[in-house]
Amino acid sequence: MDAGDWEASVKAAFLPRVPLGIYIHLPFCDSLCTYCGCNKHITKNHKVEDPYIDAVLAEWQQYVRLFPELPLVSELHLGGGTPTFFSPAALERLISGILERAKVTETYDFGFEAHPWSTTKAHLETLHAFGFDRISIGVQDFDEELMKLVNRRQSIESVVRCTELAREVGFSAVNYDLIYGLPRQTPAHIERDAAYIDQLKPERIAFYAYAHVPWLKQSQTAYSEADLPKGAAKRLLYEIGRDRFEAMGYSEIGMDHFALPNDRLAIAMQTGKLHRNFMGYTNSNSQLTIGLGASAIGDTWDAFAQNEKSVADYQARVMAGQLPVFRGHFLSKEDQILRRHILNLMTRYETHWENPEPMLADALIRLEPLISDGLVDVQGRAVRVTSLGRPFLRNICMAFDAHYWRKEPQGKRFSQTV
Ligand SMILES: C[S@@+](CC[C@H](N)C(=O)[O-])C[C@H]1O[C@@H](n2cnc3c(N)ncnc32)[C@H](O)[C@@H]1O
Repeated sequence: MDAGDWEASVKAAFLPRVPLGIYIHLPFCDSLCTYCGCNKHITKNHKVEDPYIDAVLAEWQQYVRLFPELPLVSELHLGGGTPTFFSPAALERLISGILERAKVTETYDFGFEAHPWSTTKAHLETLHAFGFDRISIGVQDFDEELMKLVNRRQSIESVVRCTELAREVGFSAVNYDLIYGLPRQTPAHIERDAAYIDQLKPERIAFYAYAHVPWLKQSQTAYSEADLPKGAAKRLLYEIGRDRFEAMGYSEIGMDHFALPNDRLAIAMQTGKLHRNFMGYTNSNSQLTIGLGASAIGDTWDAFAQNEKSVADYQARVMAGQLPVFRGHFLSKEDQILRRHILNLMTRYETHWENPEPMLADALIRLEPLISDGLVDVQGRAVRVTSLGRPFLRNICMAFDAHYWRKEPQGKRFSQTV
């Protein structure tokens, strides 16, 4: 797929009164957390902020030109990298530039990822004034020694302060990102994290399995493999977290997430309205997501595309007047059917189909070992994830991923997801 194909797909997906979502990738971080699997650019030079924002606004302008009228926006998410690397004034210029060329729906969901160390009251006030109501605080683990080990500048005090400031400024939803399976992390760490959760009561918790991909992220070779909790030890960390969170009143939402009962995602899960897109779980069903910034992914429902990953290439292409996509994929009929079943499993823990389909029969064959382990229950053409299977939801969905099995017929990396 080239930029022209992507442009045509975006144009075709645009419907004047149907809201779209925007994801903005802000890639800079001022130091490298060695566990990090995200696309980021490490620098202490804050002069990078302005040219980057110029590029993101120019990219948005290129999309707006494709639409016959101002787009309606219902979701806006700032991810990273570290969005709070940018000064409040830079973020103000960014968001006002985006919203000047958009209309916002009556109810909307605007959120951002915050590093507790760099988030100031001015960041929070600036974003809240634009309607941002959700903050995702990168906590990873409360233990300061463990954070030093992964080269992360963070204190318990900074997390508490960031949480309290967000609430004081008026944010109604605080999310924490936690990771289980970090080097030298033990059950005692997760117990301690749970005690802080009980005290601080974030509305939502993202409880991610540490993704160890040293062949992609060189910084992850900084610690010994022997220090990484694996297999049963890693599962135990998850189970301790899940049991503690549930005992405090959180319920599990799809994969990796927990929420208090009055949170929008918990309500969406209960009412069957939970949806998932490239920004993560959402209660809005928008099928067009525009990804802005280096490495951002856009989704038109018929296709998805990723921007240039390096900041320099991204900026150069936008400033040359091009949409900076470097790869993309049109979904075939087969992809669309498989996506529906994967989404059903990820948002409802079940899926079913009426007519026999060879590719779905293949998925059932791949599920056989998981059926005998009691992780899924299959009745005819209906698949249901058991409560035992929930931590393996990613593996269960992989059985439906025909592309993966064509590339990896032996399922070489199958066991590494939990
Ligand atoms: C894009 S990062 C942004 C967070 C922000 N830069 C910060 O440091 O607070 C979003 C989240 O991805 C998660 N994450 C990053 N690397 C990960 C990995 N290797 N495995 C699992 N989760 C990871 C972390 O929980 C992190 O908070």
